[in-house]
Amino acid sequence: MSAVADEPFAFDPFDDATRRSPYALFTRARREHPVWRHEGLPVSSVFRYADCQAILRDPKTWSSAFPPPPGFDPDEPRSMLVQDPPAHTRLRGLVSQAFTPKRVQALGPRIEQIAHELLDDALARGEVDLVEALTYPLPVIVIAELIGVPAGDRAQFKVWSDALVASLGSAFFAPPPAEMIAKVGRVRGELEAYFVRLVEERRLAPRDDLLTALVQAELEGSRLSFDELLAMLILLLVAGNETTTNLIGNATLELLAHPDALADLRADPSLLPSAMEEVLRCSSPVQMDPRLATRDLEIRGTKIPAGQFVLCWLGAANRDEDVFDQPDVFDIRRARNNHIAFGFGPHYCLGSSLATLEAVVAMRVLLARTRSFRRADDAPLPIHPSIVFRGVRGLPMVLEPA
Ligand code: HEM
Repeated sequence: MSAVADEPFAFDPFDDATRRSPYALFTRARREHPVWRHEGLPVSSVFRYADCQAILRDPKTWSSAFPPPPGFDPDEPRSMLVQDPPAHTRLRGLVSQAFTPKRVQALGPRIEQIAHELLDDALARGEVDLVEALTYPLPVIVIAELIGVPAGDRAQFKVWSDALVASLGSAFFAPPPAEMIAKVGRVRGELEAYFVRLVEERRLAPRDDLLTALVQAELEGSRLSFDELLAMLILLLVAGNETTTNLIGNATLELLAHPDALADLRADPSLLPSAMEEVLRCSSPVQMDPRLATRDLEIRGTKIPAGQFVLCWLGAANRDEDVFDQPDVFDIRRARNNHIAFGFGPHYCLGSSLATLEAVVAMRVLLARTRSFRRADDAPLPIHPSIVFRGVRGLPMVLEPA
């Protein structure tokens, strides 16, 4: 796959080279093929900011309520992520009562403490896999403590979370293999057994945690059923982990690639919030956000029949030259950084402020505790297996203590 201008254009989201470096291809796609039909499949990709925004803001036309992929249980509880208003509005209202800005802001000092503890261990070793040492454990400990499940179970969460996300996105292109269907079914069964006990415990003995708040949340006389609660907990566990791990990893990689920005942040850590927004824009942890056409539609002259999927490439939209000045420049002081890395419209990420808080704190502690850091070697990094995500699964680094 190449983005060279005189070669015929093709977009294969599974191609390894494209996944590692999609941006030249995205630029060409925005200009020449803003709507790309994947041959022989009921799927099109869109790349421009305006198109992604228009699709994501209009759930009546572009639905999130996909049928489960072939082979999956059609009756399994579905999270709000895959529902449209008004069912989505009710669920979002219920979780918003429990997942409050106050609850998130209160976590700042604890996130800092966790980051220090993780870096104590990492610095004692000097050479570490940063994913294993920091970017994976930090969000999983935070979400586990926030929900109110023992952080000691985090190795188990990783097994569950990995199994659920590995396949995301691939079902748009090919029916999922039988072993994958069986594995996902098994994991969901284990998660259900795990949470059923905890929910029962909170009903009998409420605590000051999100799980209790979800059990108690009530909107206009309606509460979450057990199935809805289970789907919500699985969503929080998966959405809250994978994405934030990728954000902290991508931030580290951007700073390694831009030593001037790294030096500026070391000199002035108050730039970190704006730097993390720039990482979200330039290296969006969630690359793709899918929707289903509810009627026969047309985008820029390309027909999208009812029932077909449209994949909004957030990673491409966030580098659209119609919206951002010098979109391929990594600028930690960028003004008006209205990226759509957290989506747009009714499904806008529920955890956006938690994710940015975690990334800002993690990077602040990493910079404060190190004099310098570098890649341990220049071997190609293992990238995330799902086309939905941009991130690395391992990042061997050498850390020099401050
Ligand atoms: C860098 C980190 C993160 C990124 C890039 C990210 C990205 C996104 C995106 C793009 C969506 C929209 C999906 C759609 O339109 O269908 C979304 C939704 C969601 N996110 Fe995040 N997310 C992050 C972190 C988190 C965290 C930490 C949590 C929770 C603790 C979380 C919880 C959710 C939930 C529950 C939804 C569904 C919202 C709804 O359907 O109304 N996310 N996220």
